Amino acid sequence: MKTVFSGLKPTGEMTIGNYLGAIKHWPLSQSKDNRTIFFVPNSHALTVRQSPEDIKTRTLDLVAWLLTAGIEPSKSIILVQSMVPAHAELFWILDNYVTMGELSRMTQFKDKSQKLGPEGQLVGLFNYPVLMAADILLYDSNEVPVGEDQVQHVELTRDIANRFNKLYGETFVLPKATIPNYGGRVMSLDNPSVKMSKSDHPDSYVALGESAESVVNKFKRAVTDSDTQIRYNKSEKPAISNLMEIYAGFSGMSLEEIENKYEGIGYGEFKNDLGELTAEKLSSLQKDFEKYRSNEIGLMSIIEEGSQKASAIANKKLSEVKNKIGLL
Ligand code: TYM
Repeated sequence: MKTVFSGLKPTGEMTIGNYLGAIKHWPLSQSKDNRTIFFVPNSHALTVRQSPEDIKTRTLDLVAWLLTAGIEPSKSIILVQSMVPAHAELFWILDNYVTMGELSRMTQFKDKSQKLGPEGQLVGLFNYPVLMAADILLYDSNEVPVGEDQVQHVELTRDIANRFNKLYGETFVLPKATIPNYGGRVMSLDNPSVKMSKSDHPDSYVALGESAESVVNKFKRAVTDSDTQIRYNKSEKPAISNLMEIYAGFSGMSLEEIENKYEGIGYGEFKNDLGELTAEKLSSLQKDFEKYRSNEIGLMSIIEEGSQKASAIANKKLSEVKNKIGLL
């Protein structure tokens, strides 16, 4: 049996990048042969200043999005990080098995801290990959399905686990990041050289909760490349290749099928079709989301039950670790 584990943090709106790069794929791993665990890392969200009300609301939003994507509480454990204290405890322990040098090399930290300036350079932001390692290692996770931007963090998790195992004997399973063939790095609509991110300009991303009109308009305005062909080539045609990946993600068509369908057709028509396709898909997801989100009591009982199940697994691992390192 293998364990598949992943999560998304409540720091802003969910984008189509989060969907196509991550949660869309998670329900596929639910099977009798797998143990599947999905979570909302709400303690991770403290690295960004938000009101307490926003953190709470967004945490429940994400639980509802997990259900919308097709994660079923009867097949998977759904937990909220702060409801399983073992995450914070293992985090501190692992902090002592990772160096400042290793954390300084994390590209996400470099990017974010550069944008934020000294005031925003919190220790939590620097340390964040260690909490992520604790999340993953507590559950003996074999596979961590993520978008490309998280691969480096999963690799660091492997290094930490390996180092610990060498010192104290086999304790942690070495996890592997799995990324989708297409959609693992959905790029910004107004600049195909940077990742689509909810913290950038609103024209650069499409949120999962966005209206059909706004979605269609954003794709109409999306930048394209210099020639006119709908052809997939990431280095020569980064803008249209990004739009094609989004099209493939929402339609289920292969890139080749898309090329054939749009042979001899211009960018304008393609972008219009893509806008309509995405809007249609999002409106059906939004209906399901509303259904789950409006039942707050139901959401709470799912995460209470999931967090209890998760605690049983996590506490066992934490006891093993504490025993090995000599903590009473
Ligand atoms: P987060 O919340 O930023 O993103 C959630 C997932 O969405 C993916 N993603 C994208 N994929 C493709 N294109 C994009 N433009 C795009 N933007 C985001 C991310 O790669 C991710 O898979 N550190 C994690 C949360 C976390 C976690 C964990 C994940 C905390 N502990 C343990 C896995 C295991 C994060 O910030 O993801």
